[in-house]
Amino acid sequence: MTVHFIGAGPGAADLITLRGRDLIAACPVCLYAGSLIPKAMLDWCPPGARIVDTAPLDLDAIIVEIQVAHAAGRDVARLHSGDLSIWSATAEQMRRLDALGIPYSVTPGVPAFAAAAAALKRELTLPGVAQSLVLTRTSGRASSMPEKERLATFAATGTTLAIHLSIHVVGQVVAELTPFYGADCPVAIVFRASWPDERVLRGTLASIATLVQQSGVERTALILVGPALGSEDFGESALYSTGYDRRFRPGGGL
Ligand SMILES: C[S@@+](CC[C@H](N)C(=O)[O-])C[C@H]1O[C@@H](n2cnc3c(N)ncnc32)[C@H](O)[C@@H]1O
Repeated sequence: MTVHFIGAGPGAADLITLRGRDLIAACPVCLYAGSLIPKAMLDWCPPGARIVDTAPLDLDAIIVEIQVAHAAGRDVARLHSGDLSIWSATAEQMRRLDALGIPYSVTPGVPAFAAAAAALKRELTLPGVAQSLVLTRTSGRASSMPEKERLATFAATGTTLAIHLSIHVVGQVVAELTPFYGADCPVAIVFRASWPDERVLRGTLASIATLVQQSGVERTALILVGPALGSEDFGESALYSTGYDRRFRPGGGL
């Protein structure tokens, strides 16, 4: 018996991996993390599968579900949104399973920031403009930020920020970032990237808070900030430039 932790992707059912889909179809138990998992994925569960929304459960109750499946020798598909490596609360579940001696596997998924960049049709790293991407968040009720991980610290780099779990404090985000990026720095907000009701707001640090307020949308959004979101005069990558000597194009193709 194995618990398969599966990154379910950002929302569109066809943005899960083939491996993730096949595991769902093979597991007689499916535990899924609430409304961020598209219901279409649950249709892939085998007939008669036990399908449980874990949103109302606490960690103990989730582990009991897994223990019951373990005792019955039934594999479990454990679905979380996006990828599992960021803000998925899988670490605490895996720690419990380690202690209980219950085996598990981990299947990655498409993270929300990648789906948001796709919605914008933008690359988040551009030559000479931004060569790093900071995945971060602001403090929430469930998790406070470590002292050294302040938005201002990341903003000092001037690179692209992907700010999660923070749309409800967009005004505070703007106030913290403006001294570093300037009021005219481009900002894009993607609500529910890849879902049928996906929405995109584009503005600047000066305008974005008002745009959010006018949009009336409150949840499941990513705030992307940085010059890479607006730059059109960035340099071209040397990788494909004529004359660039590299292993697969010796002599630069000349
Ligand atoms: C608990 S975190 C989960 C992140 C997820 N593990 C990932 O890989 O992207 C939830 C936050 O991710 C962002 N998010 C998740 N899905 C999203 C989507 N489809 N569109 C925009 N933002 C999304 C929002 O900032 C949301 O508040």
